[in-house]
Amino acid sequence: MGGPDGELAASLRYLNQRYTMPTGKAKALLTDIGTEEMAHLEVIAAMVYQLMRGASVEQLKAAGLAGHYADHDKALFYVDANGNPFTVTYIQAKGDPITDLHEDMAAEQKARSTYEWLINLSDDPCVIDPLRFLREREVVHFQRFGEALMDVQEYCKYCVIAHSMFLRKLGVSEEVINKIVSDIDSASISEDRKQILKFTIKSSTVPNEIIDKEVTELMNLGLTDAQLVEIVSVVDLFTSFNKFLDTLQVDLDF
Ligand SMILES: [Fe+2]
Repeated sequence: MGGPDGELAASLRYLNQRYTMPTGKAKALLTDIGTEEMAHLEVIAAMVYQLMRGASVEQLKAAGLAGHYADHDKALFYVDANGNPFTVTYIQAKGDPITDLHEDMAAEQKARSTYEWLINLSDDPCVIDPLRFLREREVVHFQRFGEALMDVQEYCKYCVIAHSMFLRKLGVSEEVINKIVSDIDSASISEDRKQILKFTIKSSTVPNEIIDKEVTELMNLGLTDAQLVEIVSVVDLFTSFNKFLDTLQVDLDF
């Protein structure tokens, strides 16, 4: 519960690192998984409590829990499997999203291994079943963090800096610019603009997933065929330029 690869470390790690993720998708993912790990902490806490509550002092001694009993009676406490108290030094936050997401992927694999070793230590189906469920969730989290890593790596630094500057010149506030970059849904811009921006993001990231309904909805906003073609041309041409500039690490020249 409170070990280096436990649920407390996982939830605190993700709910802290979420702030410095550069994209809305990565922020949302760390928030969701961090919250889910809190729920897992509750599952583990309930299991440990139920296993200990009816135990006699002799049984606790036989289970190697005399030290825990001396310090905490049968109360729960954030310790590792050997009784060492939780420490925040188990986790990191480097401010570099690539580094942090690699740490998160490693953390999920370590948690998965830990659940496997815990399953090996038990012969109680009522303990093994929830442990199996928790182990499977670590595999899913590992996969989702891998997707977030791809999302963050596609983040285009040159593009964001350049277009933020243009928006500033047009009088758009810093708050709105930040929201457009990190979480379009909460930006104070019109719903029509949000819909167009989401279409442009899809066009530059997953163009094969655009469906007819999305195009029809844009045309219902009043966009013509020519305007749609212009949007796609501008987005994809500039995405290409920006990735080229990022790859060559060209300094900003304005
Ligand atoms: Fe996890």
